Parts: sequence; structure tokens; C-alpha cells
Amino acid sequence: MINARAAFASAFCVILTTGVSAAAYSYVLPKETAELAPGPHLDTAQRNCGACHSADYISTQPRALADPQAFWLAEVTKMQRVYGAPIDNADLPKIVDYLVQTYGR
Ligand code: HEC
Repeated sequence: MINARAAFASAFCVILTTGVSAAAYSYVLPKETAELAPGPHLDTAQRNCGACHSADYISTQPRALADPQAFWLAEVTKMQRVYGAPIDNADLPKIVDYLVQTYGR
């Protein structure tokens, strides 16, 4: 019969003595394939909307909405309040304007 405690102890020793290498690993990220389309305040949108996800999240939202202003204002404040995007309140109108002009119709 196998002594489970002894088996566990020897497995644990193997783990302890093998050690874990902490060498730095470097890699090159693939080139971003989606970009925000040109529009007013593009720089502000790029600065605030590029850190967490690709521009696809924005460009694939529904078009021809009844109220694109309300939709995009809700999206940007959701990014801010729910997902913690560090968006300066002063930039908010510019970003919403960019989104409405560029992706709102
Ligand atoms: C702090 C990180 C962060 C930043 C910065 C950020 N987002 Fe997001 N965004 C998220 C997360 C998290 C999701 C949800 C991802 C999922 O559900 O897979 C998301 C999803 C979205 C979606 C998909 C619809 C939805 O509501 O889930 C849109 C549109 C979007 N973001 C727009 C923006 C815009 C516009 C900006 C710039 C104002 C922005 N995001 C900046 C984190 C961020």
C-alpha cells in the first residue's frame, strides 16, 4: 500500500528543491490592427480610450441611434465609473463629441 503522506512529502520536496526561475521574460506585442477613425478631438479620445481595449469595442457599436449623444455619454461615464477609466471630467464633452460625430450616425 502506498503511504500517501510520504508520497506527498517527497513530492513537496521535489517542488521545493527544483526552485522557480524568476528570469525576466520579454515579448513583442502584435501590431494593433484597429484604430479610432479620424474626427474632432481624436487625440483626446486616443489618450482616454486606448489603454484597456481595442478600438473595435467602439467601432462595432450600433449606428443610427435615436439619441447618439445620450448613448455615448452613458458609455463614457460607464467606462469612468464602472471600469475605473481615469477620464478627466474636462475631457468628457470632447470625447462624447468625437464619438457622436464619428460613430454616432
Ligand atoms: C480602465 C479601462 C478602460 C478604459 C480606459 C476604457 N474602457 Fe471601454 N471597456 C472597459 C471594459 C472592462 C469593458 C467591458 C469589456 C467586456 O465586457 O469584455 C469595456 C467595454 C467598452 C465598450 C463595449 C460596450 C460596453 O459597454 O461594454 C465600449 C463601446 C467602450 N468600452 C468604449 C470606451 C470608450 C469610448 C473609452 C474612452 C472614453 C473607453 N471605453 C475606455 C474598460 C475600459
